[in-house]
Amino acid sequence: MSLKVPEVKLIAKTEYGRNKVELKPGKGLMDWVRLASTKRLASATLPFVDHEELVKHDKTTDCWILLYNNVYDVTSYLEYHPGGVDELMRGAGTDASELFNEYHMWVNYNSMLKSCLVGPFTGNRTKLPKVKEAPMNGLKQGIKHTPEDTLKDMGISVLVEDAQISFTFSKYHLSPENICICAQENNSLRVLTRPYDMPSTSFTFDNLNFLGKHEFEVNFSNNNLQITFDSPKVLIGCDKIPSKIARDPAPSFYKYRIEKIDKINHDCFLYRLVSPDGIYCPIPLGHHVIARLTKKGNVLTRPYTPISAKCLANIGKSRLEFLIKIYQDGIFTPELVKLQEGDLLELSEPNNRVNIEKLSDEPNVVMLAAGSGITPMVRILQRRHAQKRQSTLFFFNHKRIDLIDEALFNLSFDDTLLVVKNVFSDEQDISGDELRGRVRKELLEENLSTFKDTQFFVCGPEGFNIAAVKSLEECGVDRKHIHIFC
Ligand SMILES: Cc1cc2nc3c(=O)[nH]c(=O)nc-3n(C[C@H](O)[C@H](O)[C@H](O)COP(=O)(O)OP(=O)(O)OC[C@H]3O[C@@H](n4cnc5c(N)ncnc54)[C@H](O)[C@@H]3O)c2cc1C
Ligand code: HEM
Repeated sequence: MSLKVPEVKLIAKTEYGRNKVELKPGKGLMDWVRLASTKRLASATLPFVDHEELVKHDKTTDCWILLYNNVYDVTSYLEYHPGGVDELMRGAGTDASELFNEYHMWVNYNSMLKSCLVGPFTGNRTKLPKVKEAPMNGLKQGIKHTPEDTLKDMGISVLVEDAQISFTFSKYHLSPENICICAQENNSLRVLTRPYDMPSTSFTFDNLNFLGKHEFEVNFSNNNLQITFDSPKVLIGCDKIPSKIARDPAPSFYKYRIEKIDKINHDCFLYRLVSPDGIYCPIPLGHHVIARLTKKGNVLTRPYTPISAKCLANIGKSRLEFLIKIYQDGIFTPELVKLQEGDLLELSEPNNRVNIEKLSDEPNVVMLAAGSGITPMVRILQRRHAQKRQSTLFFFNHKRIDLIDEALFNLSFDDTLLVVKNVFSDEQDISGDELRGRVRKELLEENLSTFKDTQFFVCGPEGFNIAAVKSLEECGVDRKHIHIFC
């Protein structure tokens, strides 16, 4: 089948002078939404795509592009692209993320191209060809975005005045925990916004004068963010708008100091970490960070969810507590356990998009946690307890010695607001309220009066998560009411 490339006719310039092309009748945005919602449009669905595979698909009849972490088959979308076929073909068979960012970082590609997803990219980006030069087609080439354009398109106004940088967001909703700020050693300031269910965006201001200090205060109300430094001198000579705006940027890592390590049981430790100066980095409910270590030149990373995350708006007072199970035969934790109080551990900015607060505020919540899978549940249980909402926790462990003292979580498992069922897979003597075995349909049916109108949370090793979801589905729970932390 051959796709006829439509003749490109300029129909309009956007507000900033960029070109839009005339699309054929029936090829508008709504037509695309209709088409993409009715069928799969990708010619293949793969567990992963590497660079060798991606480069093969660089024709108008077979066009795959890499956007951030995923490869999309955009062959069907070509004719619907408001910037024209040729513009989109510049990214054919290669990484189009930067180009996409330059023109329209606000376009919601995840949802628009859902039916075109081929699979995650696992190849080597450096082995991909460069994107093609801009087409002329008798048109002026699409003009790249300046930071001013991007701010305007994103509905953000920025004001740098006296000792303050302020942002007003008009198109998307943020809360204080959706923002990270870092005053960096190279005299730049990074502001990261992480609205729920949307891509994150980083804004970098250069040429600040930190005068050896990094002190600022953060205030947030009515979608207005104010970052106030302790002296106006910090902002003398600073750029009035961000020099760089990036969508879905790689998370930054910061060196936290290990303030305290406590042994909790035979294989679990509690790590209390303090953030470095110059960082405002709250961790939203149920979100995790990536811990990073280096072993003989190899970088090791693993995700961890804090069980307590206190972040004050005045910087330098952010404390995170992690409950970490050590696997003697593991890769990361045997290195982690070598660190001592006073040592530094690198932690990323938070990593998740889901609004767990919204899910956790459902009237009925049931949690299925295995081993250290209890960690994302702790802050949710505390929040529900404070709101006087009832929760049920199934806590799966091998033996009684694996249990973790509830005092650590600032919760009482005897409380009427919290029903806890301890389930042991490997314990001989089971007493009172305790249960034996692994997660399964019968165990859930025998111990829950209803599965209706309930939000379920699942967290544990991969095998546990799969078994838990299967059991819940067998009990009639719709997948959309199950959130897995993974
Ligand atoms: C979102 C998220 C949040 C997390 N939060 C926490 C937390 O707060 N606290 C916490 O303790 N952990 C948490 N984890 C788990 C954590 O990220 C690590 O996986 C864990 O610390 C083990 O790392 P490791 O490298 O030491 O062990 P790994 O090398 O990952 O091995 C762990 C165990 O699995 C076994 N294993 C490894 N590969 C296989 C295989 N292919 N087949 C069978 N067995 C295998 C190993 O022998 C070992 O016993 C979280 C995980 C996720 C995804
Ligand atoms: C190779 C990568 C791409 C290039 C070079 C590119 C280029 C362009 C250009 C020049 C425009 C015209 C006007 C403007 O700047 O607003 C445009 C518009 C647009 N593009 Fe792309 N594009 C690319 C990829 C994509 C992809 C993958 C999608 C699908 C999700 C997409 C969706 C859109 C939309 C929706 C518009 C209209 C935007 C608006 O009106 O604000 N583009 N593109």
